[in-house]
Amino acid sequence: MPDVIDPDIRRARTLPSDYYTSEERLKESLAKFPDYWHFAAHRSQFGSSNVIPIPHLEGMLGEPMVLTCEEDIKCLSNVCTHRGMIVADSQCDVKSLRCPYHGRTFGLDGCFRSMPEFGGVENFPSKSDDLFQFPTLEWNGIIFCGKVPPEFSSFIDELENRLGWMPISSFEHDQSRFRDYEIRANWALYVDNYLEGFHIPFVHEGLHGVLDYDNYRTETFEGGVLQIGMASEGEQTFELPETSPDFGSNVAAYYYWLFPGLMLNFYPWGLSVNLVVPVSPERTRIIYHGFVGDDSMLGKGAGADLDKVEEEDQQIVEATQRGVSSDSYDRGRYSPKREVGIHHFHRILTSEREIDNHLWSQMGDD
Ligand code: FES
Ligand SMILES: [Fe+2]
Repeated sequence: MPDVIDPDIRRARTLPSDYYTSEERLKESLAKFPDYWHFAAHRSQFGSSNVIPIPHLEGMLGEPMVLTCEEDIKCLSNVCTHRGMIVADSQCDVKSLRCPYHGRTFGLDGCFRSMPEFGGVENFPSKSDDLFQFPTLEWNGIIFCGKVPPEFSSFIDELENRLGWMPISSFEHDQSRFRDYEIRANWALYVDNYLEGFHIPFVHEGLHGVLDYDNYRTETFEGGVLQIGMASEGEQTFELPETSPDFGSNVAAYYYWLFPGLMLNFYPWGLSVNLVVPVSPERTRIIYHGFVGDDSMLGKGAGADLDKVEEEDQQIVEATQRGVSSDSYDRGRYSPKREVGIHHFHRILTSEREIDNHLWSQMGDD
């Protein structure tokens, strides 16, 4: 079978339009999601609480999950082992998790603690009465979790090499930056749009003014893409340390995308996280979380007016959804100069990747 997307961008044609419209293609795409790490939360989101439900991952992985923080952070199944009720429905500070249906309680480590009216039940409680625990990974205060993610996570090395100098773990969650949109477009179309700066001069007049379009850079790595927005003359930039591989450049923003739908946008003021959650072939939820590191940098440069940029992008993406749904359109071609990020995404999305170093077997053994 030839590749759906030719590895040579000069020969390649873009993603067939049924990837943006058909239920079956969406199911195929969703089947890949468990093989990747996903953003769960930033440590600062705990605040004074110790339990955070993470419902966006239910849309990505089909699993209600909850983060708990005791000595360490755990990602537990949020499904009661009695009859399947959702255990925690909101962020809270508790000593134990108590199912609201019939009162079964669990420790914050997920272990079964007590259950009313269960006298005489044989072989009870057993290991299967504990809440299931999923793998977690933390980098600089950012917590990732997954269903069967790979043990070796090269994206962490990529982030560390580039941004290890940034005090990301001390960034503070800013509730006023939270946004939750539902757009009328396929999730992959939203990702496509994110992965190129090609449209900036056409769609984002304001952003175009602060970015140096000619020096916009795109780099690909396993499972992701980095775009670097350079600042126009006199616009706000990072103060990069000598240890940064970009030392000496006028970087205005680092835009990291990790398959499938995680966008980590770093600006001199902090981090804006965008989560792309498929709802149906033609509906997608976009969730924004903001984490501020230096509030004196807010309101300037590439990260100044994110609502406006988002609105401009959503209009384009929704109109493009109408276009790709037409019978007369199927596929296009890529710009080798400006669309390597999208090409990389389409290669990942359509590849028959086998991951053989799953944590799954380890999880099943204990
Ligand atoms: S479903 Fe949780 S106690 Fe019954
Ligand atoms: Fe855009």
